[in-house]
Amino acid sequence: MTDSLKAVYIKTYGCQMNVYDSGRMLDIMRPHGFHHTDDINTADVIILNTCTIREKAAEKVYSELGRILILKNERTKLGKETVIVIAGCVAQAEGKEVIRRAPFVDIVVGPQSYHNLPMLLEQIKRNKSWIVKLDFEENNKFDLLPEELGKGSSISFLSIQEGCDKFCHFCVVPYTRGAEFSRPVSNIYREALIMAKNGVKEIILLGQNVSAYRGLPPDIVEDHDIDHKIHKDLKNQENNTIIISDIQKNHKKNDNFNYWSLSKLIENIANIKEIKRIGYTTSHPIDMLNDINLIFLHCTEKKLMPYLHLPVQSGSNKILKSMNRKHTREEYFQIINLFRKYRPDIALSSDFIVGYPGETDDDFADTIDLVKQIEYSQAFSFKYSARPGTPASEINNQIDEKIKDQRLQILQELLRKQQMIFNLQKIGDEMEVIFEKPGKKNGQVIGKSPYMQSVVCDGSLDIIGEIMNVKIVDAKQNSLFGKII
Ligand code: SAH
Ligand code: SF4
Ligand code: F3S
Repeated sequence: MTDSLKAVYIKTYGCQMNVYDSGRMLDIMRPHGFHHTDDINTADVIILNTCTIREKAAEKVYSELGRILILKNERTKLGKETVIVIAGCVAQAEGKEVIRRAPFVDIVVGPQSYHNLPMLLEQIKRNKSWIVKLDFEENNKFDLLPEELGKGSSISFLSIQEGCDKFCHFCVVPYTRGAEFSRPVSNIYREALIMAKNGVKEIILLGQNVSAYRGLPPDIVEDHDIDHKIHKDLKNQENNTIIISDIQKNHKKNDNFNYWSLSKLIENIANIKEIKRIGYTTSHPIDMLNDINLIFLHCTEKKLMPYLHLPVQSGSNKILKSMNRKHTREEYFQIINLFRKYRPDIALSSDFIVGYPGETDDDFADTIDLVKQIEYSQAFSFKYSARPGTPASEINNQIDEKIKDQRLQILQELLRKQQMIFNLQKIGDEMEVIFEKPGKKNGQVIGKSPYMQSVVCDGSLDIIGEIMNVKIVDAKQNSLFGKII
């Protein structure tokens, strides 16, 4: 590795947590002289931030690695070195297997240890042999909060929670991301303040189950008045490194804290003037009623977006039980009805799995019936994919691929129809749109509605980063068209 080794290309697979992590990897590497490039051909470091939620997602990584090997060899001929890093959930789930299948990979690093990347890159320079680092470390990736967080974006993700303790029988996440851990309130609040200072207007709070958020309250970090103290603390910060590991150690010893719920955290972030909109994802039905204030907040807190992504996976009680989801379809309806009562215009979204082991035509009909009753604004649906090591992969009654294909098609057609209806209903409405990027055509800009829809408007690029009132004049399957008022 030469000293000119500085351009980093990063490709992100999987969920929003990975999108957030990719941003953080670049943040962590920047002070060490690395810069981001969109061109893989000129990259000195290539990072694949991977996902293993379904078999296809994991296999994509190996086919991409095939292409990268060709590139690496070409660069070697020109005397240029290329360091290849596999990060994310494939790394965590099958680190050694990655090296076996692709021995030209230099570094394998898990989602809880990527803050070590600068050090690992240094090590590679010295040793030249590959490194696998997959620890779940106490000294964690959230300790460092760079001043550039959110720069250049009007909308930003903010990870508030890691891992998952739910162990749904189909899912690898509890194994790849580890035990559920909520970031302390003050650490999240600081990150939100930095984002606000850098022009972010909308923050989406992220986690696998943010409805189970239980954050260490700021008063164990600072003594009295919370907001005042946090502001003061931020001003006093001499460098931008905040060590929260000691607080976490403490937290393990003492379980009597008055933890903050998601709703309390949202109320607190809503106090930041520059932040105009707050969203959260993903929620799990079984935690939804523990924080009843969250539902009321959708009625009382103007900054909270009228959007709820609440995955149900299946409409059949038999399948829900077999999936270990720990709730019934009736309970899911109850939760949705409550949200609709306090926020009638709320946009609803979900995830679905079709072809889970043992799913009969009747079970699938229950899913279709649930979708018809709820009427979603959008949703994600997948064919069940057996993942090694998960309990569902060992059930005998696996479903034929052809049947999975048919069911997926039927479900997706219905969901597409519902999305179109939801979008059409918005024609004539006025709403606040946060503008994010240029449109495909010249003279167009694309923004986001409070209901998570893309909104295309005629306008100058100067309005990117602004929030404006827009009248919706047309709707398509995946976007709205509006006029700036
Ligand atoms: N924590 C979130 C989901 C994270 S994974 C939740 O509980 O809702 C995102 C989605 O991927 C899941 O909701 C599920 O629909 C899908 N998924 C997870 N494992 C899968 C598997 N083995 N096969 C197919 N889809 C899967
Ligand atoms: Fe996976 Fe279930 Fe956890 Fe979601 S709640 S991440 S589906 S185990
Ligand atoms: Fe994939 Fe890991 Fe997210 S498996 S969905 S990248 S938590």
